[in-house]
Amino acid sequence: MQTIIGKDFNEAKILLQRNEVVGIPTETVYGLAANALNTEAVLKIFTVKERPHFDPLIVHTHSIAEIEKYVSDFPAKARLLLEKFSPGPLTVLLKKKMLIPDLVTSGLDTVAIRIPRQQLTLQLLQQLDFPLAAPSANPFGYISPTSAAHVYDQLNGKIPYILDGGVESTIVGFENDQVIVYRLGGLSLEELESVADNVIVMTNESSNPKAPGLLKSHYAPKTSFRIVDKSELSQMHEHNNFAMICFNECFPEIEKERQYLLSEKGDLDEAAKNLFAVMRQLDQLKLNEIVAIKFPDEGLGKAINDRLRRAAAGH
Ligand code: TXA
Ligand code: MG
Repeated sequence: MQTIIGKDFNEAKILLQRNEVVGIPTETVYGLAANALNTEAVLKIFTVKERPHFDPLIVHTHSIAEIEKYVSDFPAKARLLLEKFSPGPLTVLLKKKMLIPDLVTSGLDTVAIRIPRQQLTLQLLQQLDFPLAAPSANPFGYISPTSAAHVYDQLNGKIPYILDGGVESTIVGFENDQVIVYRLGGLSLEELESVADNVIVMTNESSNPKAPGLLKSHYAPKTSFRIVDKSELSQMHEHNNFAMICFNECFPEIEKERQYLLSEKGDLDEAAKNLFAVMRQLDQLKLNEIVAIKFPDEGLGKAINDRLRRAAAGH
């Protein structure tokens, strides 16, 4: 099965209506979602996640009125808390109606239920006529994923679609009077600099104790990988079995089939989102080499170049 990362709301909806499992973003972690009212769909979650059946799932829905459909008892305090903190990171345990399959609650008579705040997922829930059962989108015992790329890393090939709710956050620290950027993500350097002066980028440290997940070779593919300059393209040899990652245009010096565009419409945000998926895809082709052309060094292009440098650093 090919796992696709995308923002296509309708694709996610159609797959869920077909009782497939889809990765969805929430304001806490990504969830591994399926139709909570359908036992066959819920069973797939347990299989993909390799989760023991005795560990119950959280049911996600879009309103308090919806919750009423699935619970047989709604204490005033539960309503009070939900009115105050939902949508948001609060899950309540309430007596379930028969409508909720026993598999979801592992045989318990309560169901865990919450209204997530993430906009894309909230909209999705509003458009479906069933709630979504979803545990965190990691294999049982692994770290909960906070980006579509994490979900992809952990569950590639096991689910058809991951609804992408955004890139990872930008991580900054503070030393003396400086703002130190350890990871470039959703918030661009320009945005930081518009508020703070003395911003220093330290995303290339070979070991980075402040953010250990960001080690230089963290994003390295297995295939040999390097960044190339436009001027080098004419020397790339046709008999060398390589592929090239590009932004929005193909280069005439190189055969078209070798070039993988991350965003045909030239959208750096889209390119950032496709980067990991394309790198994974190419890494499976048994190529001699993957090369990438440097991206425009602005906005999310900086984050892409940072990931490319990390990928190259492992080789
Ligand atoms: O933020 C979150 O809660 C994320 C997002 C995706 O919503 N979900 C999440 O699900 O972390 P999960 O399955 O990784 O953790 C849910 C926990 C489990 O430890 C489960 O045992 C517990 O909630 N749980 C579920 N239903 C329960 C119930 N009826 N009674 C007691 N505990 C329950
Ligand atoms: Mg979990």
